[in-house]
Parts: sequence; C-alpha cells; structure tokens
Amino acid sequence: MSYNSFGHLFRVTTWGESHGPAIGCVVDGCPPRLPLTEADIQPFLDRRRPGQSAFTTQRREPDAVRILSGVFEGQTTGTPISLVIENTDQRSRDYGDIAQTYRPGHADLTYDLKYGIRDYRGGGRSSARETACRVAAGAVARKILGEGIVIRGALVQLGPHKIDRAQWDWDEVERNPFFCPDAKSVPMWEDYLAGIRKDGLSIGAVIELVAENVPAGLGAPIYGKLDSDLAAALMSINAVKGVEIGDGFASAELTGVQNADPLFMRDGHVAFGANHAGGILGGISSGQPVVARFAVKPTSSMLTPVPSITSAGEEKDVITKGRHDPCVGIRAVPVGEAMMACVLADHLLRHRGQVG
Ligand SMILES: Cc1cc2nc3c(=O)[nH]c(=O)nc-3n(C[C@H](O)[C@H](O)[C@H](O)COP(=O)(O)O)c2cc1C
Repeated sequence: MSYNSFGHLFRVTTWGESHGPAIGCVVDGCPPRLPLTEADIQPFLDRRRPGQSAFTTQRREPDAVRILSGVFEGQTTGTPISLVIENTDQRSRDYGDIAQTYRPGHADLTYDLKYGIRDYRGGGRSSARETACRVAAGAVARKILGEGIVIRGALVQLGPHKIDRAQWDWDEVERNPFFCPDAKSVPMWEDYLAGIRKDGLSIGAVIELVAENVPAGLGAPIYGKLDSDLAAALMSINAVKGVEIGDGFASAELTGVQNADPLFMRDGHVAFGANHAGGILGGISSGQPVVARFAVKPTSSMLTPVPSITSAGEEKDVITKGRHDPCVGIRAVPVGEAMMACVLADHLLRHRGQVG
C-alpha cells in the first residue's frame, strides 16, 4: 500500500526520513515546456529553511535542491520531475533518549503500534523535514499556475495573541521572522516567544492563506470539491489540527443575511460584496480570492518533562533534547502556501481536462 502521494493530474510523491542521507519528491503530470531550474525552487525552500532566526530550530541545513530528471535545457519535458535535498545536519545522538520512550503528542507511539518498527532519529518519516519536499513541489506547481495567480500566507495568531487585522500589510510579512502581516504585533510576539523558549515550552499558531486571481470554475462536485481537497492537503501538514475555509467556524454564528456574499454586475462582470465563502461555492472557485486558515498545535518535543511510557510499558517522564522550533507554526507558513499551490495546480489541470 502506498500513501505517500497526493493530487490527480499534478501528482506529488515524497520520500525520505529526517536523518537519512536525503529527502526528495517526484512531481508527475507537470505539462511540458515550462521554464524550470533549481533557482526557481530554491527561494521557496529558503523561506522554510531552519536556523534563520532565534525563533526556529537551530538545525542548519542548506536545503539545496537538485533536479534529477524531467527537465531538459531549462524546460520541463512532461516526464516525472525528481527533486532531491540532502540532509546535512543530522545529530542522531539527540534522539537516543526517545528511542524507547514515546514523546506525548508526537507520532512515536502510533508508528510503533502500527508498524512495530520506527526510525526514531528526528522522528524519521513523521518528521516535518518531509515538508521541504512539499515546498519544492509547490514551486513547480506555481509554474503551472503562472505569475497571475498569487498565493501568500501569513501568521495571524501566535498562542493567544492575534494580529490586528486592520494593520494587515503583505510587505511586512517578509520583514519579520514570524511571517506576521501586522508590524505592531512583532515586538510583542518576540517577547512572548522568547519567554516560551526560555521556559522550555512551546506554543501553537494560526496561519492564513490567500490565493488571488484564481479563475472561476476550479473544483468539481461532489467528491472533487476544491475546498475538500484544500482541507485534506492542509490537514496533512504535520501538527495541523484545524482547517477553515473562508469564515470557517465563525460562519456558524452568522445569520444567512450576514453570511451572504451579495452579487452585483460591474462592467459586464460578476462582482461580490463580501467573501465569507472564501472564494469557493459548491466546491467550485467563484473567482474571488480563495481563503483558508489552519491551526498548528504546539511542538511536542520540549525540554520540559512530560509523563510518558517506554516501549516496554514502563512509565517514565520524557524530555526531548535536540533542536526544536518553539512554535512550528512559523515555518508552516511556506508549507501551507506550497500545499495550496499544489491543489490549485492539480485543479487547474483537471478543469482544463474536463472543460477545455
Ligand atoms: C515546519 C514544522 C516543523 C516541525 N518541527 C518539529 C520539531 O522540531 N519537533 C517536534 O516535536 N515536532 C515538530 N513538528 C511537528 C511534528 O512533525 C508533528 O507533530 C508529528 O509528526 C506528529 O504529527 P501530528 O502532530 O500531525 O499528529 C513540526 C511541524 C512543522 C509543520
């Protein structure tokens, strides 16, 4: 059985473990004659790369991507694109303590229960190192979508602290280590997260994704809905515990009138008075921005002891040494963007395949 692939016409398969020699992916179904070099992919990996600020893991990986196949003279050939990223900063000794002890909140217990064997070094296949492959695939997906479709993500909540949405500035997202769109929240978040780290704790976050200029018509009833594929893709990211489309759970508090996105005609085109639906109606994109949010739980590997058990069934407190992000939600921002790009590219190809 194989569960390492997603997408239909734009299909991504990832492989590799945190502390193996390399990780990588195969992107199949990419149309031919699209310009593609490593330089198109690397900037996206650099945004996800660890060790870039005091607020992410100090593991130092260059995350340099190599294209092994599917590209000839700088253009895609229509054959499988194989991408590889070497692991260069593994420190397996940090994980000796958890070889026999399960980290509460991590995948150690369930991998053992299911498979009876697990690569405990860095979490093996359950490590979010795998998300680098998604980011690389997302860069290829963006080539299919073209420059017109703009996909951006931002951290909108760190622990209990939400941004002031009135201050939203997309340019600010690239200026601070949190991908935060509200400049005023940044100093407060810095103090807060420094305190969390100092106390050996970790904290969760909420990320918002917006895709602009998505054409109307992507997604299909009933089991190919754009929102259900998007939700599945975001939920598959490590540590994600909730996904919302548009107003999401808040729409339960609205009346039908409040929740309606009024329709108008402007210069012969359909126009909307609001976007509570997050750009998707009946599983099909409406032409409005596609908006999704996802909640990321706190990092489970911490220096603070938590009661747990060993694989032999003994009770034992667990502390995880090693280098861990105090808030994994920060580096999840480029991962979320990449998953949205992959889903939209897949649906664009599927839409062309069916409707022309
Ligand atoms: C970008 C990113 C980095 C992560 N880094 C760590 C980490 O350093 N330590 C850790 O315990 N979990 C980390 N995680 C979360 C684990 O991979 C995840 O909790 C684990 O695989 C169990 O899966 P689940 O939380 O989805 O149930 C990270 C998640 C993301 C998105």
